Amino acid sequence: MTAAVDNPLFARLWVVLAAHETAKIKALRMENLAGLSGRVLEIGAGAGTNFAYYPDTVTEVVAIEPEAHLLEHARAAAAAARIPVSVTEKTGEALANDPAGDEPFDAVVCSLVLCTVFEPGTVVRQAYSHLRPGGELRYLEHVASAGSRGRVQQVADATLWPRLFGNCHTHRDTESVITGAGFEVLAARHTWTMPRWAPVPVSEFAIGRAVRPS
Ligand SMILES: C[S@@+](CC[C@H](N)C(=O)[O-])C[C@H]1O[C@@H](n2cnc3c(N)ncnc32)[C@H](O)[C@@H]1O
Repeated sequence: MTAAVDNPLFARLWVVLAAHETAKIKALRMENLAGLSGRVLEIGAGAGTNFAYYPDTVTEVVAIEPEAHLLEHARAAAAAARIPVSVTEKTGEALANDPAGDEPFDAVVCSLVLCTVFEPGTVVRQAYSHLRPGGELRYLEHVASAGSRGRVQQVADATLWPRLFGNCHTHRDTESVITGAGFEVLAARHTWTMPRWAPVPVSEFAIGRAVRPS
């Protein structure tokens, strides 16, 4: 049984941040979803920011969001989306017990969420098990950096950062978690969402497509 996600302050902050994203982040969201089609599972949808960026070739988005305030915003965004989107209150870890997961998805989307979940390995394995063979995981995540920024991230994670930002961890090696679950990475790159000199521990992002082998 997974702990409940209850981050009322962070949830309110996230709604504001999500409404004021930079052009770079918007472009990355669009890139992360480009070319998707069929049925998509989105894990930890937040305020539903991705919903407006799905291409029309997506026939259905089934989203999960465990935080009550964000769930409300995600449902409002779902109602306004061009494509059919439903949002359920659930954690990524709890997908293990999901009887509705019988029909596999064509794609799973994770953006800015694997930093925050309780058990990234479990969530990525769940993503894998809910995909059809050949289905894709699309990810856009800030990741652990090397060198002194990495050391700053480790200190941030051991002190206040997760407490302030809804369990966000800055130093997760998310790409190893993805390959460790059995995914084959088809394309991936790192990019910076702020100038490299900026002392922000969440500015190195990984964006990629990984497939569940057929
Ligand atoms: C930084 S926000 C990102 C939201 C959204 N994915 C986006 O791209 O805007 C992190 C999200 O992960 C959700 N979350 C936290 N723990 C989770 C879990 N165990 N399973 C699924 N989602 C979780 C939070 O409630 C929040 O919506």
